[in-house]
Amino acid sequence: MVNGDVRFALTFHDTTKHSAWSIQASPHYLDWQNQPLPFKIYTSIDPVPLPRDADPTGISALSAIAEKDIQTGGEKIPALKDLARILFFSAGITKKRTYPGGEMYFRAASCTGALYAFELYLVCGDLADLKAGLYHFGPGDFSLRLLRQGDYRGMLAHATGGESRVAHAPVTIVCAGTYWRNSWKYRARTYRHFGWDNGTMLANMLAMTSALRLPAEVVCGFVDPEVNQLLDVDPEHEVAFSMVPIGHVSPGPPKASLDIPKLGLPTVPLSNHEVDYPEMREMHEASSLRTVEEVLEWRARAKARDYIEETRAPNVVAGFSPRDTIEQVILRRGSSRQFERQPITLEQLLTMLRAATQGIPADFLTPHGTQLNGLYLIVNAVDGLRPGAYVYDREAGDLHLLKEGQFRNEARYLGLQQDLPGDAAADVFFLADLEAILARFGNRGYRAVQLESGIIGGKLYLAAYAQHLGATGLTFFDDDVVKFFSPHAGGKSAIFLVALGKGRKVR
Ligand SMILES: Cc1cc2nc3c(=O)[nH]c(=O)nc-3n(C[C@H](O)[C@H](O)[C@H](O)COP(=O)(O)O)c2cc1C
Repeated sequence: MVNGDVRFALTFHDTTKHSAWSIQASPHYLDWQNQPLPFKIYTSIDPVPLPRDADPTGISALSAIAEKDIQTGGEKIPALKDLARILFFSAGITKKRTYPGGEMYFRAASCTGALYAFELYLVCGDLADLKAGLYHFGPGDFSLRLLRQGDYRGMLAHATGGESRVAHAPVTIVCAGTYWRNSWKYRARTYRHFGWDNGTMLANMLAMTSALRLPAEVVCGFVDPEVNQLLDVDPEHEVAFSMVPIGHVSPGPPKASLDIPKLGLPTVPLSNHEVDYPEMREMHEASSLRTVEEVLEWRARAKARDYIEETRAPNVVAGFSPRDTIEQVILRRGSSRQFERQPITLEQLLTMLRAATQGIPADFLTPHGTQLNGLYLIVNAVDGLRPGAYVYDREAGDLHLLKEGQFRNEARYLGLQQDLPGDAAADVFFLADLEAILARFGNRGYRAVQLESGIIGGKLYLAAYAQHLGATGLTFFDDDVVKFFSPHAGGKSAIFLVALGKGRKVR
């Protein structure tokens, strides 16, 4: 399987589409006795507790979300308390709820089915208060566990083809997805969720690094087997998906040997047994890069300036208010379970759209400001805007009417016949020219476009809660979404959906 053979991604996308018919034809019942554990628990390693008493950043959520990129001239080395804040506000437990069946832990970022398939690993050189090593982050006891002692940053630098931000980062966080934790409920569609769930987490992470004035970037191009080997994950079950180098030091890392031992550290089994969905593993294989040469070639293609439609950088730089801090907003965030059928204002809607689309620092989004997904909206109730279907123009920071009408029923239907998108004030559909993206990036473009949608979706969530509004990610009937927004969206593919509005308190 090679990255350039994009039939894999096209087939995977097609076969994991939802339609009114597919939902009926292929019902899925949850095996509650076999529900996977939401945590990866290493049983033989002592925890290194993370500090919980860091000062608030004082930075407003909206400005942290909208930050384009932190440039730094000099050294920027996070302290352990900074890493603790970044980890907590990206993947920490922010809420506990008790149900008759037990306790449920909700985390900083939204996540399909609250199944939390993503693990975070930290690769660092010697820091003032943390020795060099590979660590696993455990949200359950808010601790790190040292898996390998020593400086392995050189291995990541090698795996990313010498990517400058990785090579000069004192710390890199690697995000890895565990198939079964999500496929227990969502079967093969889990691979789409990998991009979404990793993306919402990265939206929080980028907002926190921005608030801490630490440079950070999302890196998608790396030699998969080398990174999986470093993490010592079994790629049949868990795979590295993205990484975020944080901070800057001038010297590059010490050269690392690529020949590192297997660890085979014991972890608590997730379930009694696991059900395999080979399509998602094949999709991952087909989008894997196997050599440094392949990574360099991929990154050169990612830098090409042609064929992606959404390359115009936004012109609108807003003075955002309100000024609730990023930490306050992340703690307040949750997915709306019901929306009031009440309008929001046009200013609130544009603030969310503008803050979320200022640009993401990522190795697949060059020149800076490039965006793979286009945003299409169904506006149900926004003061100052006629109800209808719209497309968002990033450059102008404004909405263009495609067709006027009250489309609450259509929104409800398109969002998998759930009430949430019908009741929301506005629904933001992400649509992308998948064929053009795959032509440019190969199958790995599938990871990139899903990941980007999750990051922008995560920013929309935060921008909504910053304004005391509500939001929820949603799934959708793929082809019907494209049909609804055609002819403008003709030829595109539906990637993601976020509903925005006034949330009603129900839990
Ligand atoms: C990508 C994505 C898709 C989601 N799809 C749905 C959905 O179709 N229906 C729904 O009710 N909630 C959906 N959610 C909301 C999740 O169920 C919610 O994030 C999860 O239960 C965690 O709760 P929290 O967001 O309140 O922390 C989605 C969330 C995400 C991130």
